[in-house]
Amino acid sequence: MSGRCHRFFSRREALGLVGATGVTAGLWGSFASGQRAGARASRELDVRLAKASIVEGAETEGLVSALADGPPPVLRLRRNTPFKIGVTNRLDDYTSMHWHGLRIDNAMDGVPYLTQFPIGKDQRFQYEMTSPDAGTFWYHPHCMTMEQMALGFTGILIVEEDDDPGFDSDLPINLRDFRLDGQGRWLDLWTARGAARSGTFGTVITANWQVEPTYEAPAGGLVRLRIAATDTTRIYRVFLPDADGRLIAIDGHPLPAPVDIPKTEETALHLGPGQRADIVVRMPVSEGQSITLMTDAPGAARILAKLRSIGSTLDRSVSEVVALPPNPVSAPDLNAARLEEFVFGWSPEGDLPNNGLCGTLGYTFWSINRQPWPGDAVEGTGPLSTFKLGESVVLRLRNESPNAHPIHLHGLAFKPIRSNKRQIAPLWTDTVLLQKEETVDIAFVADNPGDWAFHCHIIEHQKTGLAGYIRVLES
Ligand code: C2O
Ligand code: CU
Repeated sequence: MSGRCHRFFSRREALGLVGATGVTAGLWGSFASGQRAGARASRELDVRLAKASIVEGAETEGLVSALADGPPPVLRLRRNTPFKIGVTNRLDDYTSMHWHGLRIDNAMDGVPYLTQFPIGKDQRFQYEMTSPDAGTFWYHPHCMTMEQMALGFTGILIVEEDDDPGFDSDLPINLRDFRLDGQGRWLDLWTARGAARSGTFGTVITANWQVEPTYEAPAGGLVRLRIAATDTTRIYRVFLPDADGRLIAIDGHPLPAPVDIPKTEETALHLGPGQRADIVVRMPVSEGQSITLMTDAPGAARILAKLRSIGSTLDRSVSEVVALPPNPVSAPDLNAARLEEFVFGWSPEGDLPNNGLCGTLGYTFWSINRQPWPGDAVEGTGPLSTFKLGESVVLRLRNESPNAHPIHLHGLAFKPIRSNKRQIAPLWTDTVLLQKEETVDIAFVADNPGDWAFHCHIIEHQKTGLAGYIRVLES
C-alpha cells in the first residue's frame, strides 16, 4: 500500500499540483469575468471514469466525470436560446442526464423509464433544451445515481441573464463530499444505517473537488458566488464570517430584493442536496486580504473556500447590488387551487425494489403516502397526482419523520407558502428543505405538460422509496 501512495504522491508533485493555490490559480482563468462569452449553443459530454487528487497527497481513481482529471464542466447557456447537448456513456453501467431546476420539455428531463430509456455503454443521447429562466442550476445522472453521483458526477449549469448584471467576476462553487479514507480510497458509498436515517455522510468536504481551495478575485470588486449543494447527503449551513455581501437568488430564482448574507452559524443559510444560492460578496480592498466561505458541521465549522483579493481596488460597493430580473414564473391562483396532500414517512418494507437498469440499494425504507416507490422500471406505476394544464395547485407536504428531506419537483417552479413550524419565504424554487416533522404547503401552476419526477434529493432516501412523479396533462 505504501508503495502505491508513494507513486501517486510523486506523480502529483511532478504535475506541480502542490498546494491548493497552485491548482486554483489555473482554474481561476476559466472562472473570471468575460466568461459570458463562454456560453455555447452546443456541447458534448462523455460520461467517463476520472482520476483526481481529492485527499492531500493521494490520487483517487474511479471517479465519474466528463473530464479525465476534474469535475464535470460548468455548462453555460443563454436564456431563451436552444442548447443541444450530446451525452455519450463511456461507463460500463447505464446512465441518463437530468438538468436540475430547468423548466424544459419533458422528453429532455433525463428520467429513466419516465422520459427516456437509460443510455447504454457507448450510446449517445442528444438533449435539446431552451430555458425560460436565467440562474444557477445543475446537472447529474438520474440512473445509477448512488454510484455515479457519489463518485463525482454533479456539475453546475448556468443560464445567463439577457443583460450582464455587472459583477466583476463569477465563481461557481460546487459543494460536495466524497467518501474516502486517508489514502484517497473509496469507502462504502451507502449504508443501510445511513439510508434509514439522514443518509451516509461523506468524509471529505470539497468545493469544486478541492479541500479548502483559495480563489483570487479583484480587490474591492463584486464577486458572484454560485454555490450549488450537489452532495447526495449533506445539508450545508453556509455563512461568510468576514464578508460584506448580498444574497441575490435561491435555487436559480432571483430574490425580489437582495438581503444581507449570513455571517454566523446561527444565521447560516441551509442548503439541502440540490439547492443553490447566488451570493454577491465585495472583496476586501487591499491585495492579499481574504474572505472565507464556511459551513457549520457537527463538531466545528469548516472552511469551504477562500477568496483572496488581488490588484488595486475596484472600489465597488454592496449598495450597487440590485435585484436580478425575475424569471417568468406564473403565479398560482390560491383561491382556485386544488389541494393535494403528500405524506413522507418511514415505511420499511424489506423487499427489493425493481430499478431496471438503473440500480437499487437492495432495500426500501421510505415512502410517499405510505407507498415506497416500487422502482423506476416497474410497469404501471401510476402518478401520485394528475393535473390539468394550467391548473393552480397547492401540495401539502407532510414530513412525518424525524429527518430533514430536500423535496424536489422536476420541470416546474413552485413556492412554499406556509409552514407549521416557521416563517417561510415565498420564493420560487425547485427544491424545498422540509425540516423534521414539518408540513409545508407549496403552490404552483401546472403549466409544463408531462410526467415530472418528485422525490427526496438525499439520494439514499430517493433510492429507498421516497420518490414518485406527478402528471401534467397536455390540455
Ligand atoms: Cu436533481 Cu430528480 O433530481
Ligand atoms: Cu429524504
